[in-house]
Amino acid sequence: MARSGMSKDDIQVATDHVVGLHDVSFSVDDGEIFVIMGLSGSGKSTAIRTVNRLHDITAGSVVVDGIDVATLNKRDLECFRREKMSMVFQHFALFPHRTVIDNVAYGLKVTGVGTGERRCRAMEALELVGLERYHLSFPRELSGGMQQRVGLARALAADLDILLMDEAFSALDPLIRRQMQDELLAMQGDLLHKTILFITHDLNEALRVGDRVCIMKDGAVVQIGAPEEILRNPATAYVAEFVKDVDQGRVLQVDSVMTPSSPITLGTTVGEALASLNSRTSAFCVDENGKPVGVITRDLLVASEQAFVEVETVMNTEFGITNRSAPLVEAYELCSKGDLVAVVNEQGVLEGRLSALDVLAELGEIEAKAEQVKAAGFVGELV
Ligand SMILES: Nc1ncnc2c1ncn2[C@@H]1O[C@H](COP(=O)(O)OP(=O)(O)OP(=O)(O)O)[C@@H](O)[C@H]1O
Ligand SMILES: [Mg+2]
Repeated sequence: MARSGMSKDDIQVATDHVVGLHDVSFSVDDGEIFVIMGLSGSGKSTAIRTVNRLHDITAGSVVVDGIDVATLNKRDLECFRREKMSMVFQHFALFPHRTVIDNVAYGLKVTGVGTGERRCRAMEALELVGLERYHLSFPRELSGGMQQRVGLARALAADLDILLMDEAFSALDPLIRRQMQDELLAMQGDLLHKTILFITHDLNEALRVGDRVCIMKDGAVVQIGAPEEILRNPATAYVAEFVKDVDQGRVLQVDSVMTPSSPITLGTTVGEALASLNSRTSAFCVDENGKPVGVITRDLLVASEQAFVEVETVMNTEFGITNRSAPLVEAYELCSKGDLVAVVNEQGVLEGRLSALDVLAELGEIEAKAEQVKAAGFVGELV
């Protein structure tokens, strides 16, 4: 019935069966953080649980590292789960009668790691999630968010190539949640390089941690794309609705808004600078190494009334500096400091410029696009 195009709701009414997933296809690259995002009941947990075959599928295939998961017998499946991937469950799934450290070390025990090393690795993982002082507590003595962090520590301690994270941060309060996201990204950047399938119902979180994001609705895929693609080109009104709720400045990077700089070199005279400004109202001045040292504006140059002095005598030396990959939100404050923000590379050489107007225009454009897609979807529904 699903294949013939019937909706999940209609099928449930007709048969009392729920379509878990239908027409869901995606691949996750080695070392990628792939996020599945969608509202409650959209099929996220169902999807992730097919990967380690906690759910059997009735059609299609799930292939992990060349292994067709459906073909594994009981023993091979156990081995596969133990050696390939660890999972952070949405509802923690801790052993109530074991202490925190024993919970974290349990997976290592099963794989035959010795007591000493087990303890060491479990403590390291607990430190990562900030719970080392609770290592002798029992799960019932911890808050929900703390239990969730124990689940995360257990997965990290196992140190396997693939991490399945089902709403791993959802029970945490916003501040700790942000810290855990940062921690995950830092770990992934530095040493982890794991392949991570990450589930969340929060698009802010999805766009922040994901290399790519898959948005699901009613057991089907609505859109798959890099965070910027989803922000700029929401595929449906459903996605646009989420986009409108996103803190776009944290997703977009400076390089998506910066413009080429065409700087003026120190030693240029005011008269020459005015001529080379052309239609521009301002420009950066750079030293002989291409590093920004000041900003000149048409007004400043004209006001100086001295065509033959060098620009360094009239330029404004106060301006903000940022880099390409900084989140746009970090440039907001810099934009308030002066007309232009310099975007420099690792050597401090000017690569581009950013103005408050560019930033506002960009954010406005994303809002307008989301609104447009939302409205089109609404009209579509009416029709
Ligand atoms: N064990 C089960 N047996 C039958 N139906 C189930 C089972 N688990 C989930 N479902 C159904 O599958 C659909 C998807 O559920 P799933 O748990 O995958 O949602 P989810 O996207 O993870 O939601 P949440 O954000 O609330 O965790 C729902 O309609 C649900 O009723
Ligand atoms: Mg779920």
